[in-house]
Amino acid sequence: MLVTQYFAKDLFKGKTVFVTGGGSGINLGVAKNFAALGANVAICGRTQEKLDAAAAELRVFGTKICAVSADVRDSAALEAAFEKSRAELGAMDVLVCGAAGNFLARAEKLSANGFKAVVDIDLIGSFNATRGAFEQLKETRGTILYVSAGMAYMPHAFQVHVGAAKAGIDMMMKNIALEWGQYGIRANSIVPGPIEGTEGMKRLPKQDEFVKAIPLQRMGSVDDIGQVAAFLASPLAAYISGCVVVCDGGQNLLGSALFNMGAEQMLRGQEG
Ligand code: COA
Repeated sequence: MLVTQYFAKDLFKGKTVFVTGGGSGINLGVAKNFAALGANVAICGRTQEKLDAAAAELRVFGTKICAVSADVRDSAALEAAFEKSRAELGAMDVLVCGAAGNFLARAEKLSANGFKAVVDIDLIGSFNATRGAFEQLKETRGTILYVSAGMAYMPHAFQVHVGAAKAGIDMMMKNIALEWGQYGIRANSIVPGPIEGTEGMKRLPKQDEFVKAIPLQRMGSVDDIGQVAAFLASPLAAYISGCVVVCDGGQNLLGSALFNMGAEQMLRGQEG
């Protein structure tokens, strides 16, 4: 884990970081990077067992951990989770809106409910978290990090729901940065590229040619994203707000054609 080599190990000591969807994948990686730098970390998600397993991994770093089940689509449950986190860890300094859902679906076959499910989790869930965290973040002059995706600015086949939701998140991030800057609250988005070993990658095509075509010629790791999150939440980024930071090894420079071909093959396989 590079953050502990290059950042002070107590950078986030006494700070509280709340990560929605923190039970696995990129979000758990982000949570680990913060914990490694001394932060007390709260995570929420839909399944308590998954959260408990993630909490055990986070406790290795020796800081206080709070794992509470809450679906980001349920604003009341989320607010209760934020209160629990505040009671156990103190007011939130960093909110990471990471909870997301994804699957490949042809636009003409996607039901209204399928489109809505992803918009509800990604976009409305991120708003619910943002809104629910406001008082705590105002108190700490905290920061918000949104986990976006390349689909927000480059169309990707069979991702109409994801593109709409993530583009919405990036615009919401800019609105929040604009309106809440007066409270010292910063807001930024991180766009992860293809990250190895994540649920998202299992649901999306991965081919050897795709990896070779990435300018940096490798998949990303969850730590690549955790490092960006740590930087953006740190005092080093004190004057950065309203930005979308892409961390993808240059993959977006290729466009989405390779993805689209892989996605077509994957969907055909699923359709039989
Ligand atoms: N293709 C097309 N439609 C799909 C689908 C797929 N692969 N998966 C779900 N849907 C549709 C369902 O058919 C349903 O619509 P309908 O009522 O018209 O049939 C709608 O989406 C909701 O599905 P449901 O399973 O009830 O939603 P959920 O809230 O339990 O699950 C999802 C949310 C759909 C995002 C699900 O994929 C999920 O939970 N994923 C896990 C998290 C994840 O995706 N992680 C990756 C992060 S990048």
